[in-house]
Amino acid sequence: MKPIHQPVLLAEVLQELDLKPGSTVIDATVGFAGHAVAMWAAITPEGRLLGIDQDPDALASARQRLPAEAELRHGNFRDVAAIAGEAGFVPADALLVDLGVSSAQIDRAERGFSFRSDGPLDMRMDPGQPLTAADIVNDWDEEELARIIREYGEERHARRVAQRIVAHRPIRTTGELRAIVASAVAAGKGAGHPARRTFQALRIAVNDELGALADLLDVVPSVVRPGGRVAVISFHSLEDRIVKRRFHAPPYRQTTKKPLQASAAEQERNPRARSAKLRVAIVLPQTEEA
Ligand SMILES: C[S@@+](CC[C@H](N)C(=O)[O-])C[C@H]1O[C@@H](n2cnc3c(N)ncnc32)[C@H](O)[C@@H]1O
Repeated sequence: MKPIHQPVLLAEVLQELDLKPGSTVIDATVGFAGHAVAMWAAITPEGRLLGIDQDPDALASARQRLPAEAELRHGNFRDVAAIAGEAGFVPADALLVDLGVSSAQIDRAERGFSFRSDGPLDMRMDPGQPLTAADIVNDWDEEELARIIREYGEERHARRVAQRIVAHRPIRTTGELRAIVASAVAAGKGAGHPARRTFQALRIAVNDELGALADLLDVVPSVVRPGGRVAVISFHSLEDRIVKRRFHAPPYRQTTKKPLQASAAEQERNPRARSAKLRVAIVLPQTEEA
């Protein structure tokens, strides 16, 4: 059986977050608790762990894998100040964010994340939010569609893809969309499937992924204590750019000059680790900020 989700850069996260028995830690993307289970082992006895996820299925799975003492909350990490405050986790010693979707989300065709299987055009990590990929694909005007496909998908042929989408409306399934995008974009050598970039763009737009990340990094210094640490694992350059920019300015100080990347052995074992970048920062005490 395929493992549900292999945590990426696990040893590096544990090392860089400087967890100790008794630490208070927030996993803001608890997912299937791969990182959380290992962090729990590092902070017990007496440590406290809060896991947050906007996907109720992920939380149900995390609940089965974590001890009952670990706290879990449904919500968007952009609201971490309110969620952690209400749960009594402020100030925390450390916070982890492992961005993007989990393999369990991608593997379920009915969630609509994957161009490899046929499902509804959904792509919501939080099934309670109103906006779906079908809304964007069928209702947004061509200009807006082209903009997100270019900016979030880094697709050179964004204009042509947007035109084809508009011409083929209504589009109901991931399979239909994949075929329409493939007819607009020739498969490039080594560039992966021609629909990959458009699907990435839609997913980022549906979940406002870049906005949520920027909001999170704004509020982390009010959640993590001065001297505490925040680790972010990102999977594409748009995310990494936001983290890099933030971590180069107070109140953050990045612990390593360059982002950490998975070893060759991990990349071999887990293809998802190939694009992963880990940046870790210390939240500086106020007096060191100036
Ligand atoms: C890559 S997975 C995390 C996997 C986890 N670290 C593990 O080892 O099992 C990312 C998770 O973050 C959640 N997520 C992504 N963006 C989020 C956000 N803005 N707020 C809350 N959860 C989010 C997704 O629903 C998904 O379950």
